[in-house]
Amino acid sequence: MKPKVFVTREVFDETLDYLAQYCEVESNQQDMPLTAEALAQRLAEKDGVVCCLTDRIDAGLLERCPRLGIVANIAVGYNNIDIAACTARGVMATNTPGVLDDSTADLAWALMLGTARRLTEVESYIRAGEWTGWRLKQWLGVDVHHATLGIIGMGRIGQVIARRASGFEMKVLYCNRRPVANEIERRLSATHVSKDELLAQSDFVILQVPYSPETHHLIGAAELKKMKPTAILINSTRGGVVDDAALVAALRDGTIRGAGLDVFENEPRLHPGFLELKNIVLAPHIGSSTEATRRAMAMTAAKNLVAGLTGGMPSNLLNPEVKEA
Ligand code: DGY
Repeated sequence: MKPKVFVTREVFDETLDYLAQYCEVESNQQDMPLTAEALAQRLAEKDGVVCCLTDRIDAGLLERCPRLGIVANIAVGYNNIDIAACTARGVMATNTPGVLDDSTADLAWALMLGTARRLTEVESYIRAGEWTGWRLKQWLGVDVHHATLGIIGMGRIGQVIARRASGFEMKVLYCNRRPVANEIERRLSATHVSKDELLAQSDFVILQVPYSPETHHLIGAAELKKMKPTAILINSTRGGVVDDAALVAALRDGTIRGAGLDVFENEPRLHPGFLELKNIVLAPHIGSSTEATRRAMAMTAAKNLVAGLTGGMPSNLLNPEVKEA
């Protein structure tokens, strides 16, 4: 008998076709996030689930799904999954690293360039029919080229962001729990500094750390005050890494110049202050959202799930202890 699996959100046809070769598939192709109760009901008799960052997989849910053997997240970030609870119940958990590094790095760059050159402000101005002609001092932005880029979190995506900086002849600073290997530092021309030093020296600060209790409000009022008043903050990693209320205040009072944001605390609800500000570029959590990348993410999750359910080793197993036990 094929294992029974549930796909919590709309995916691509090829993902479902692939899963159907190995599993009995049920899916929520209406693409509305399920409530915790609905999710528990749909998973009660399932052996595996392909889920997304909008699904909370916690101890309470696992308790109600005794057959569940694997949770395959379509995302590299997995703060929606209680990994310890999965491990305690012998449930494998997987994510989709690698396939989205370039697209996510591109979006961080898009936010950085867009904020520096005020692209959303000027587009609104043009669309409102207010442009009456060229002026020397019109819509002055700031240069990205030759500026100092500070990357907080030098994992895979941080490194891809740094690699793109060489084309802009930027100085690259980074901070990380541990410095990366010398050879990587040399290749990226990146210098490891303390967080305070990075905040004080950078013209652009990009956050690329995963969300966890340790990184909750990594950037709050105190950190924003340490930044240059001319600096721009980019968050395309996870809401909650930035204290959004503190950021709204800092953008309002000119503590920093601007921000480019793809992720928010409590998304999709935004701190209302963001909508009143002009010195920001906002995006709806689309860091990895290119057609090719989202297809690759969904297929990676499906392959992880199938490997786990057919006795193999999923490529992106987050809790290998479960297999070792
Ligand atoms: C991820 O992979 O964590 C992204 O945020 C999903 O878009």
